[in-house]
Amino acid sequence: MLELRNIGFEVEDSKEILHDVNLTIDDRFVAITGPNGGGKSTLAKIIAGINTPTSGQILLDGEDITGLSVSERAKKGISYAFQQPVRFKGLRVRDLMALASGKKSSLAEDCEILSEVGLCARDYMDRELNDSLSGGEMKRIEIAMVLARGTKLSIFDEPEAGIDLWSFQNLIRVFEKMYEQTKGNILIISHQERILNIADKIVYVKNGTVEKYGTREEILPMLLSSADAGPQTCSVLTDKMAK
Ligand SMILES: Nc1ncnc2c1ncn2[C@@H]1O[C@H](COP(=O)(O)OP(=O)(O)O)[C@@H](O)[C@H]1O
Ligand SMILES: [Mg+2]
Repeated sequence: MLELRNIGFEVEDSKEILHDVNLTIDDRFVAITGPNGGGKSTLAKIIAGINTPTSGQILLDGEDITGLSVSERAKKGISYAFQQPVRFKGLRVRDLMALASGKKSSLAEDCEILSEVGLCARDYMDRELNDSLSGGEMKRIEIAMVLARGTKLSIFDEPEAGIDLWSFQNLIRVFEKMYEQTKGNILIISHQERILNIADKIVYVKNGTVEKYGTREEILPMLLSSADAGPQTCSVLTDKMAK
């Protein structure tokens, strides 16, 4: 269980990016959504330890992890997939998978995980993580890495971004399967109605704080209603129309 208590985040020129964020994440699959620039990615980075909050506390299973670094949090079971994946020159896909899982996995295991995300493992295992991989391929490799880790809390920041060439259906299938199999909590930032549809709870972040938090049944109809028209509603509806 993850608890955020009164989280605030300010940058140098005292610009307040997050304020009064209170949130308890105890469900298997929680989606964060909301308009662009609302603070979703910042919040995910605060949970992963990439950003340190300027106020408030973060607790993982009751333990205060506010002061812990990214790697210390990773050891405690928090893994994070960037909205913009990082490229590591000189490192091959198979090295990254081994790093992620913390063991030297068999080719068969790696193959299975990579095929989950729609990549044929044989073609990809020895590819270097450099600019020869497309944004969509990097994104899928990163999702595979989080799958390989199978941690307590897995955070995905807009996994749908940049995977236009990959069937959207496959991505949904990966997350549906993850939902069935995970023993931990999944936190996913997304604008896609199909993803929001498999979430137990939905967090709506706007203007740097949690504006609404509730079950999918409570939050989704509100997001889809024209009464709350805005960028978020548009992106959810665009997804609907694209299907
Ligand atoms: N380190 C930073 N310095 C200044 N502004 C930032 C920094 N990080 C994020 N922001 C700003 O904070 C706001 C929230 O950003 P972000 O968390 O990326 O939103 P979202 O993911 O919801 O689109 C944006 O206006 C962004 O430009
Ligand atoms: Mg973002």
